[in-house]
Amino acid sequence: MAFLKRVSLAAALAGTVQASLYGESKVNHTCVLEPSVLSCSSSANAASVDTCCTETYGGLLLSTQFWSTWTGLEAEGQKLPADTWTLHGLWPDFCNGSYTQYCDLSRQYDPTPSPNTTNGLPNGTVVPPYKGPNIGTFLESFGRYDLLDWMNTYWINQGAPNIDLAAHEFSKHATCYSTFDVPCYGPKYVEHEEVVDFFETVIKYYKRLPTWEWLHEAAIVPSNSTTYTLSDFQAALTKRYGATPYIGCSGPRYNATEAGKGSTDNGRTVVSEVWYYSHVVGRPQDGNSIPVNATSPNTSCAKAKGALNYYEVTPGSIQGR
Ligand SMILES: *[C@@H]1O[C@H](CO)[C@@H](O)[C@H](O)[C@H]1NC(C)=O
Ligand SMILES: *[C@@H]1O[C@H](CO)[C@@H](O)[C@H](O)[C@H]1NC(C)=O
Ligand SMILES: *[C@@H]1O[C@H](CO)[C@@H](O)[C@H](O)[C@H]1NC(C)=O
Ligand SMILES: *[C@@H]1O[C@H](CO)[C@@H](O)[C@H](O)[C@H]1NC(C)=O
Ligand SMILES: *[C@@H]1O[C@H](CO)[C@@H](O)[C@H](O)[C@H]1NC(C)=O
Ligand SMILES: *[C@@H]1O[C@H](CO)[C@@H](O)[C@H](O)[C@H]1NC(C)=O
Ligand SMILES: *[C@@H]1O[C@H](CO)[C@@H](O)[C@H](O)[C@H]1NC(C)=O
Ligand SMILES: *[C@@H]1O[C@H](CO)[C@@H](O)[C@H](O)[C@H]1NC(C)=O
Repeated sequence: MAFLKRVSLAAALAGTVQASLYGESKVNHTCVLEPSVLSCSSSANAASVDTCCTETYGGLLLSTQFWSTWTGLEAEGQKLPADTWTLHGLWPDFCNGSYTQYCDLSRQYDPTPSPNTTNGLPNGTVVPPYKGPNIGTFLESFGRYDLLDWMNTYWINQGAPNIDLAAHEFSKHATCYSTFDVPCYGPKYVEHEEVVDFFETVIKYYKRLPTWEWLHEAAIVPSNSTTYTLSDFQAALTKRYGATPYIGCSGPRYNATEAGKGSTDNGRTVVSEVWYYSHVVGRPQDGNSIPVNATSPNTSCAKAKGALNYYEVTPGSIQGR
């Protein structure tokens, strides 16, 4: 996917450099009074809608999840929930599948930016590591301990504290939505309220996508003694979601494994991610999304029969055990 440099584009659109994609006014954006417009449709452009009420920047939403078998911080009690894929994020891709990232460096709360420049290249704008109080403290000031508790159960990081993943998702991705832009919150904006709003929205989408159950219904269950075929994963998830998601794999390439020796299939073999694509009517916050097929390529996994491992979680990595 292409990376685009946002600073010059936004400055051109807004006329001035400010912490907003379009330089919207801070007056009330009363979206219930606005027409319902589908993102990525021809009407969804910044010239003809309130960009706080229709997603005009990143109108192709990706609700993303991880399948992991360990966290690396088990000793500190950071473990995985039993029998469920975990939350990764909710990304605003452009309608053509490319995307931008770290779109507002005044809301950079990610302690370990990845990539470390806005375009992922040495000539991009540097994304400075965040050193302040973690993003969880923003929720505490709203009294949202319920949200923090949920996040610590289902929004699980690997190799670093859970809250760092939420911070990364907010600063890398949420800052690239027109509808989560600060002026959208109107004259009574309270600092960080869009962080709370974004986390609640991410969770709303995640909860509608029970990947583990959908696979289980198709007799696809984690196993360290069986292998699976990509098309079976795709069929099971497409049937329940209504469109084909992207399925991501990590681990060795199939033709670098013993089983795949001599094959030309160089897809990866360990099932680890799923990305559900949608368009959305009005604000993403309201959840009126419509499933769409993943853009090509719709997988990074090997396609050969029986090429995939869907591993069982490490016994000591499961919550409550
Ligand atoms: C916006 O809403 C607030 C109440 O939240 C109200 O006091 C204010 O007058 C409204 N402003 C405009 C421009 O409508
Ligand atoms: C994709 O869409 C974005 C935003 O409209 C645009 O800036 C970019 O040039 C497009 N990329 C391609 C490859 O068409
Ligand atoms: C960004 O990361 C790369 C390695 O991934 C490193 O070579 C480079 O020095 C880093 N740049 C900055 C500005 O930290
Ligand atoms: C940054 O470098 C890449 C390739 O190295 C190049 O394609 C791109 O045009 C450069 N961008 C800027 C803004 O200089
Ligand atoms: C794996 O497949 C790719 C693409 O088909 C090929 O370029 C590569 O040489 C193969 N690797 C091995 C180890 O066979
Ligand atoms: C997804 O693609 C399939 C063909 O691969 C097509 O039949 C189906 O209509 C598409 N679904 C959506 C929601 O676009
Ligand atoms: C995935 O995309 C490829 C083209 O890249 C297409 O041939 C295939 O039908 C798609 N698979 C599904 C299940 O939609
Ligand atoms: C299954 O295999 C994966 C990958 O090697 C490993 O991380 C996990 O601990 C194993 N699970 C069980 C229950 O043995």
